[in-house]
Amino acid sequence: MDFKLTEEHEMIRQAARDFANNELKPGVIERDEKQEFPKEQIKKLGELGFMGMMASPEYGGGGMDTVSYVLAMEELSKIDASASVVVSVNNSLVCWGLDTYGTEEQKKKYLSQLTTGEKIGAFCLSEPEAGSDATSQKTTAIDKGDHYVINGTKNWITNGGSADIYLVIAHTDKEKKHRGINAFILEKGMEGFEIGPKEQKMGIRGSDTHSLTFNDVKVPKENRIGEDGFGFKFAMKTLAGGRIGIAAQALGIAAGAYEMAKDYSKIRKAFGTEIKNHQAIAFKLADMHTSIEAARHMVMKAAWDKDNGHNYDLSGAMAKLYASQVAMDVTVEAVQVHGGNGYVKEYHVERLMRDAKITQIYEGTSEIQKIVISRSILAD
Ligand code: CAA
Repeated sequence: MDFKLTEEHEMIRQAARDFANNELKPGVIERDEKQEFPKEQIKKLGELGFMGMMASPEYGGGGMDTVSYVLAMEELSKIDASASVVVSVNNSLVCWGLDTYGTEEQKKKYLSQLTTGEKIGAFCLSEPEAGSDATSQKTTAIDKGDHYVINGTKNWITNGGSADIYLVIAHTDKEKKHRGINAFILEKGMEGFEIGPKEQKMGIRGSDTHSLTFNDVKVPKENRIGEDGFGFKFAMKTLAGGRIGIAAQALGIAAGAYEMAKDYSKIRKAFGTEIKNHQAIAFKLADMHTSIEAARHMVMKAAWDKDNGHNYDLSGAMAKLYASQVAMDVTVEAVQVHGGNGYVKEYHVERLMRDAKITQIYEGTSEIQKIVISRSILAD
């Protein structure tokens, strides 16, 4: 077994690390405070090829593997989890979903603009009464021959206000339960498509989260993704890959907080010596490092499974479950290592602690990951 990254992987990781330090770090505290979307930074990430990393080159994508993607996600998330969730949703939910299941026309028309960052995508599954229970969709899409008419509300949509292209999951036939669900491509500005106010969030405050309302939105039939009734499977398959991206985000948040705590322990003095020389701190750092390394192995294994054509439902769910717990634990400890300074914005760790929590909630709560894991291990 070879744990060594290729030269190309190392280059991608370094490029993401440089971008995070040079472009994301300046202004990250202000964007968090003002809930300001990192518009310029996302544009640059698109120009550098980070918005469609795994998508096919013929549609402007990078044609890279999932390992490259998680390496980039970890580095970006160490500094700015608000920017990295935009990258994650665009890459793994929107670009991957379209690249894998879209028609040639859909890819030409939509994917090629999403991979370059020219346009941003959103994935719209959750509803006021259907978060974890994704089959209980209330949004409807009525077949009118050459088009569908969509009505309903979606909640907690990442990139809700900034996106241009929205993948919307809706029921076309409630009798058929999950087999009567479809996925559609909607565009901002379609008549009857309304974007609600921005949510005021605890963390990832630079990303914009909105509810969306559809009032008789007419969507051409050619905007349905896949065969009739494929929408639920589309959502599940797409989310299975998305969970690897969020696991990498959680890993990055943890690793970022740990690195800051380690650096701080070398300069902060207490009781006549740098605090790293006190076991109370050194043991915390040892625990943080160990759990981060375990999480990194799990994230890499899930990415490797995906790249090698293995089923990644189980490894992806386990990676997300574990890495998001590590993100919570490590960021809380990083604040503790910083003492009073940890509670102050300029030291960054309090933001990472707030950002960490969402990784246990979106793209399936930790409880949902346990459902996926237990069903998988008990299936045989
Ligand atoms: N791949 C392919 N098919 C799958 C699948 C997968 N990973 N998981 C389930 N399916 C299929 C099943 O095979 C089944 O199909 P058939 O009956 O045809 O065989 C069908 O889907 C229904 O499966 P279940 O009976 O298992 O469905 P369930 O109702 O029990 O739900 C669940 C399963 C795992 C709980 C699912 O509802 C789920 O994942 N819920 C969480 C939803 C979620 O993650 N929401 C996050 C929103 S997106 C987001 O957060 C993005 C963002 O903005 C950041």
